[in-house]
Amino acid sequence: MAQPPVEAAESGQGEAPSGIPHEAAPGQPLGQFVPVEGSVPTAPHLAPAPPQSTVLPAAEAPAAVGPVPAPRDGDPEAVQHAEDLDTRAADQEDQEVTAEESTAPVEEARQSTGPAAPAYDDAEREAVLKVMRERRDIRNGFRSDPIPHEVLLRVLEAAHTAPSVGHSQPWDFVVIRSAETRRTMHELAMRQREAYAKSLPKGRAKQFKELKIEAILDTPVNIVVTADPTRGGRHTLGRHTQPQMAPYSAALAVENLWLAARAEGLGVGWVSFFDEREMVRALGLPEHLEVIAYLCVGYVDEFPDEPELMQAGWSKRRPLSWVVHEETYGRRALPGEEPHDLLAETVAQIRPLDAKALGEAWERQKRMTKPAGALGMLEIISAQLSGLSRQCPPPIPEPAAVAIFAGDHGVHAQGVTPWPQEVTAQMVANFLGGGAVCNAFAGQVGAEVCVVDVGVAADLPATPGLLPRKVRAGTSDMTTGPAMSREEAKQAIEVGIETARDLVAAGNKALLTGEMGIANTTASAALISVFTGTDPAEVTGRGTGINDETLARKTEVVRRAIELHQPDPADPVGVLAAIGGFEHAALVGLLLGGASLRTPVILDGVSAGAAALVARAIAPEVLAACIAGHRSAEPGHVAALNKLGLRPLVDLDLRLGEGTGALLALPLVQSTARAMHEVATFDSAGVTEK
Ligand SMILES: Cc1cc2nc3c(=O)[nH]c(=O)nc-3n(C[C@H](O)[C@H](O)[C@H](O)COP(=O)(O)O)c2cc1C
Repeated sequence: MAQPPVEAAESGQGEAPSGIPHEAAPGQPLGQFVPVEGSVPTAPHLAPAPPQSTVLPAAEAPAAVGPVPAPRDGDPEAVQHAEDLDTRAADQEDQEVTAEESTAPVEEARQSTGPAAPAYDDAEREAVLKVMRERRDIRNGFRSDPIPHEVLLRVLEAAHTAPSVGHSQPWDFVVIRSAETRRTMHELAMRQREAYAKSLPKGRAKQFKELKIEAILDTPVNIVVTADPTRGGRHTLGRHTQPQMAPYSAALAVENLWLAARAEGLGVGWVSFFDEREMVRALGLPEHLEVIAYLCVGYVDEFPDEPELMQAGWSKRRPLSWVVHEETYGRRALPGEEPHDLLAETVAQIRPLDAKALGEAWERQKRMTKPAGALGMLEIISAQLSGLSRQCPPPIPEPAAVAIFAGDHGVHAQGVTPWPQEVTAQMVANFLGGGAVCNAFAGQVGAEVCVVDVGVAADLPATPGLLPRKVRAGTSDMTTGPAMSREEAKQAIEVGIETARDLVAAGNKALLTGEMGIANTTASAALISVFTGTDPAEVTGRGTGINDETLARKTEVVRRAIELHQPDPADPVGVLAAIGGFEHAALVGLLLGGASLRTPVILDGVSAGAAALVARAIAPEVLAACIAGHRSAEPGHVAALNKLGLRPLVDLDLRLGEGTGALLALPLVQSTARAMHEVATFDSAGVTEK
C-alpha cells in the first residue's frame, strides 16, 4: 500500500500516529494513495540539476560588458555622446574583459579622498527603518480627534521634500475637511466597490464582502494628491522619454506623507476605488491634473502589525528572496548569497505531510458526529489537507484558482489530430472572453481562471487574465528531434513555479491545474509511457475523439519519438525536453511550487497526470500536495494515476482538459475541510457514541 509522504512530528515521532491512512483497516475507507508499482525513486541522480546547470553554454552566454568610461569633468552628459558609444563598442571588440574586470566599479579612475559621508547612527537608522516597517494602510479604528495644524504641516512638508523628475515637483495637495465633499466622494467609492465586487469570482467575493476598503467618512481630513504632467515646462529633465515619471514623482510624495504621518501617530488609508476623471470633476479640479491618491487621514486606536489584507487572508507577503536578482533577471540572490536555481530552491522546500497534524485530523474525524469512516475518501483528503497545512482543522481551500497553461506542439505536423493548430490560440481567447466550459464551471464553483501563454504558436494580444510567459511559439516535432531544449524545459517549469507563487501570494488556498494545446495528448501519452513503462498502445488515447486510423498513427508517433530519444526516466527534465510540451513543463512547476508552499493542488486530467509523474520523479514528496480531481476517459490517465497511487474524486468520462475535472472536484475538497471546522464532536454535542 503506498503511503503519502509523512514528516515526523516535531516531538520526534518517527512514524505517523495510528489511524493515519497508510493501511486501510477493515471498515475504513480506501486510501487516497492506491497501490504504486515499484518503489518511490530517491536516488541522488533524480535530484534536480545543480545551479551550475543553468549557466548558459559559452556560445549562448551574453557578452560581458566592459567598464563604462567615466563622464568628462564638467560635462555630466558626455557619456551619452555618440562618439563615446562608438569608442565603447570598439573597446569591447579589442579587449578581453575578464569576469573580475566586468564587476569592477564603473568609475575606476576616480580616487576617493577622505572618509565617506557619515551614515546615521544606529538609533537614527533604526528609527528610519522602524517607521517604514510600521507604516500601515488603515481603514479601521479611526478616531474623530482633530489634527493640529502644526502636525498636518509637518506631514505635508515631508511630502513636499520628495524626489521628483527633473525637480519638477509635480504634486499638489488638496486638504478636504467638508463633510459634504467627503459624502460625495464616499458615494463615488461605494459605486466602484459594487462594480468591483461584481467582477470577482464567488470565492473572492465572499472574502471581499468582509473587507473595509476606505475610511472617507471616519476621518477628519482627506487629502487629494495630484500630479501636473505639464509642470516643469516642455523640457523637464528625465521626462521626455518617460512621461509617467510625473505621476511616479507624486507617488513618492505620498510615501513621504505616509511615513511622516506614521511618525506623528496618524493613520493613512489610500482609497483607489474611483473613476479618476469622475473624481476630477467631483472635486472641481483643473482638467489637466491627474489624481494620484485619495488619502483618509486621522488618529487611530492602533496600528496593526501586519497589513490588514494579510490579516484577513486576502494576500500573503512575498519573501524578499523572490524579488532580488543578481545581474540578470532570474538569477535570484540576496546580497552576499550565491544566485540560486529556482527549481532546486523549490524542491528543497517540499516537505512530507506533517505527522502530528495528520494524527489530529484522523482523531477528529473519529470524534465528529457521524459513524467513523462514513465520509469515505473525503476523510482521507481532510487528513491530507491537515498534514499539508500543518493545521487541524485545515484551512478551507477557498479562494481557489485554476491555472490554464497553453502551448502548441510541433508533433501536430504528424497528423495526430484533425484539429488545426490555431484552435489553441482561439480557445485561449475563448477562456479570456469567459465562453468556455472551464469558465462556466469556474463560475459555478467560485474559482478564478488564470490563463498562461507558455508556448502558443501565435502572438496573443495583452488581455486581462492572460499571463504572457511564452518560452517559444510551440515545441519542435518530437519525432525528428527534441521537443525543446533542456534550458527551455527548465524555463517552462519556472513559469509554473512562479505562477504558483503569484497565485498563492494573492491569497489563493488551492491551485487547480488546467491546460490547452492542440495535440498535447500525444505528448502526455509519450510521457506516461516512459514514466510508467507501459507500451504506447496502452496509453495513447483518442484525445478529442479521433478515429481508428488517426489513433493508429498517433500511437506510432509516440512509439517513434520514444525510440528516437530513448528518454531516461531518471532524468525527468531531460524526458520533458525530449517528448514533453511547454504546458506539461509548466504544470510540473505548478505542482512543485504548490507543494513547496504547502498549498493543495487539484489535478485535472491526462496532461496533469503526465506532469505529476515528471514532478514525482523530480521530488517524490510533491504528492503530499496532490489531489486527483477526476479520472479522464484517456487510457493513459488511468496508468498515470495507478503509478502515482492517486484515487480520483470524480469519474464522469470527461476528456476535455481546461481544468474542468479539477474544477468539479473543488467543492468536494472544500466540503471536507469545512466539515472539519463545522461538524460537532460527540463530546461537544452530547451525542452518545456506540
Ligand atoms: C496605490 C495604492 C492604492 C491603494 N488603494 C487602496 C484602496 O482603494 N483601498 C484599500 O483598502 N487599500 C488600498 N491600498 C492599501 C493597500 O491595500 C495596502 O498598502 C497593502 O495591503 C499593504 O498594507 P500596508 O500598507 O499596511 O503595508 C492602496 C495602496 C496603494 C499603494
